[in-house]
Amino acid sequence: APSVTTTSDTVGPRTPPYAKILDRLSRVRKILGSGRPLTLAEKILYSHLDKPEESLLNGTANGKDIRGLANLKLKPDRVAMQDASAQMALLQFMSCRLPSTAVPASIHCDHMIVGERGADTDLPSSIQGNKEIFDFLESAAKRYGIEFWPPGAGIIHQTVLENYAAPGLMMLGTDSHTPNAGGLGAIAIGVGGADAVDALVDAPWELKAPKILGVELTGILNGWASPKDVILKLAGLLTVRGGTGFVVEYFGEGVHNLSCTGMATICNMGAEIGATTSLFPYTASMERYLKSTSRGSIAEKVSRIASATAAQNLLAADPGSEYDEHIAMDLSLLEPHINGPFTPDLSTPLSKFKEAVQVNHWPHEFNAGLIGSCTNSSYQDMTRAEDLVKQASAAGLRPKADFFITPGSEQIRATLERDSTLSTFSSVGGVILANACGPCIGSWKRTDGVSKGETNAILTSYNRNFRGRNDGNPSTMNFLASPEIVTAMAYSGSTSFNPMTDAIMTESGDEFHFQPPKGIELPLEGFAQGNTHFFPISKSADPSHPVKISPSSERLAALEPFDPFPGHDLKDLRVLYKVKGQCTTDTISAAGPWLKYKGHLPNISANTLIGAINASTGETNVAYDHFDPETPKSGIPELAEKWKAQGHNWLVVAEDNYGEGSAREHAALQPRYLGGKIILAKSFARIHETNLKKQGIVPLTFADKTDYDLIDACDQVSTVGLYDMLQNGGRGNVVLNVKKPNGDKIDIQTKHTISKDQAGFILAGSALNLLAKTKKP
Ligand code: F3S
Repeated sequence: APSVTTTSDTVGPRTPPYAKILDRLSRVRKILGSGRPLTLAEKILYSHLDKPEESLLNGTANGKDIRGLANLKLKPDRVAMQDASAQMALLQFMSCRLPSTAVPASIHCDHMIVGERGADTDLPSSIQGNKEIFDFLESAAKRYGIEFWPPGAGIIHQTVLENYAAPGLMMLGTDSHTPNAGGLGAIAIGVGGADAVDALVDAPWELKAPKILGVELTGILNGWASPKDVILKLAGLLTVRGGTGFVVEYFGEGVHNLSCTGMATICNMGAEIGATTSLFPYTASMERYLKSTSRGSIAEKVSRIASATAAQNLLAADPGSEYDEHIAMDLSLLEPHINGPFTPDLSTPLSKFKEAVQVNHWPHEFNAGLIGSCTNSSYQDMTRAEDLVKQASAAGLRPKADFFITPGSEQIRATLERDSTLSTFSSVGGVILANACGPCIGSWKRTDGVSKGETNAILTSYNRNFRGRNDGNPSTMNFLASPEIVTAMAYSGSTSFNPMTDAIMTESGDEFHFQPPKGIELPLEGFAQGNTHFFPISKSADPSHPVKISPSSERLAALEPFDPFPGHDLKDLRVLYKVKGQCTTDTISAAGPWLKYKGHLPNISANTLIGAINASTGETNVAYDHFDPETPKSGIPELAEKWKAQGHNWLVVAEDNYGEGSAREHAALQPRYLGGKIILAKSFARIHETNLKKQGIVPLTFADKTDYDLIDACDQVSTVGLYDMLQNGGRGNVVLNVKKPNGDKIDIQTKHTISKDQAGFILAGSALNLLAKTKKP
């Protein structure tokens, strides 16, 4: 299996640098004093500080008030990038002109593979359709010494879990579900490409010290309840904003009753509550997982660390450590949940779901059940689903809904094939898709005749369910559940069916009841090797290797640096659009068919904000230009393009949690490219707010959220104090002087979270502009 290659690494070790991390931990303890207990997240994060004294003692951080206040400057151990976001990350890295990456890194070709009829036909056609991109990524990997996982090798987070994640590791990933690796005790944070470039060039990566939300687990899962239900329930309790600014740290005796892959599922979906990351302390199930994925030597090392004295134990919270928030959950009492539609925090216990379907007039039937993905394709998940299929097959039943299975990696696929799990699924009409994202990221060609705009429902074991996410159809209601619940419900095809209590009629007229699923944590014979074709390409940097970008390409374009900030405040910016309601990174930079332009900023900018609802009219992607009586109405990107050509810079006004959902930096790059200077919102999602600053856009929040009502599209805005604030390293606030079309003027007070370094990025035009100046080859 790919993990077998660990002993012949050529592009960086897979064992975290434990000696260095532990040494740093003792330094941190000296700085903070021995009486200060540390949570697990604090231990791993602070042990990766570039200069611990500077981060922990300076400014507001005085060794005590660190969380929520200190700016941590971190040196991660590793970077992972998926194919869609890797393009822009690499284009940015290339412009720094360094010979190789400073830390081990990997590229995973997963997002650009379509799911339609099954892996055998979908994979070759997707490779053909994206050849230019995969060639570019592979060539850049060879040039800079990055490990390259070809299309079909697997989904980034599953591959990372199987090969790179390890207790105590700190890594960045250019994908919002990077926290999946927290299931194996790592601090793994989803970031944009520009942040990844920090780590790749050995510049410290900055993070506001997160607060810690402790989730105390007791008891043991039983029956139908699965790890997925832990996070589905938590999402309901905390909402999509509840984890913002927090690391979710699990503890308590219940953590020792979970499988490692189950903990990864829980951490994966921590992204849905906006958490910086999530993680678990070291457990025996992690040791078993490391050993079964050919990493026995790492298991030995971490077992020694975990049994060290409390002061040296990097892999669990100190006794008496304090959490900023605390939630308790008894796994023994947990019931399955179904979340959705359209938002992952609309959480309904299975026993109440039938009623919710009726009350909300959700469709009574669903068309497709999709299981697997990076969230839920472990051996345990799949064997539990298999058990249900076998039960139903014995009663002569077949799924009524279409049934799709996405293995997370070639390793898990080959193992499930060897152990006949996949043939069990295929025998009832299940379609085995490629080891890739496919329908989870909108690369799903539905063949069931549902047309765009048609209301319908699907059930998935994925993690995200924003409108249009899976099939580009905003009327598709995507409900999230565990693979077990999705599989069992696929047999009735009804959203009102409760597999724990309800019966399905067999052809002979008997009532069939599912029994609670039984699965196997890890394959008894170990993991299978899989097809060698999908093994990673792992070579040292070769400065003579050409990076393939065609000058005539429509999909790849080298980056032009953005202009620096003018030497004064901004005058007469126009409000391009006032967004109503939720504005995710999907809203700002849609995925699906647009994924193919990820490496071409001018071309992908044509999708900017096309999902945004106009606060005045309720229309989607309809902007009005009051300055142009002849053609006042257009799409948002068209208006931005027009104003750019006319030399008018602009800003966007939005509501809460602007940019939630993913690390997609295109959502910052595109507005910047089209002339956006400021985003004024009620609040921001953390990753997106950082991305904006890195690309030279100023994110401001209303000091008084009700001021949102005072500003409208086509108002003109001048800043007061912005230039001074940037020059003063982020100190001071900004007032917006708003001029209405009738000449009225109002002032809006704002707040911001711009640090000294980030002020430098904005002044330079972007973080990359600043890096290119300071990092000489
Ligand atoms: Fe891919 Fe979906 Fe996971 S897009 S990385 S399978 S969240």
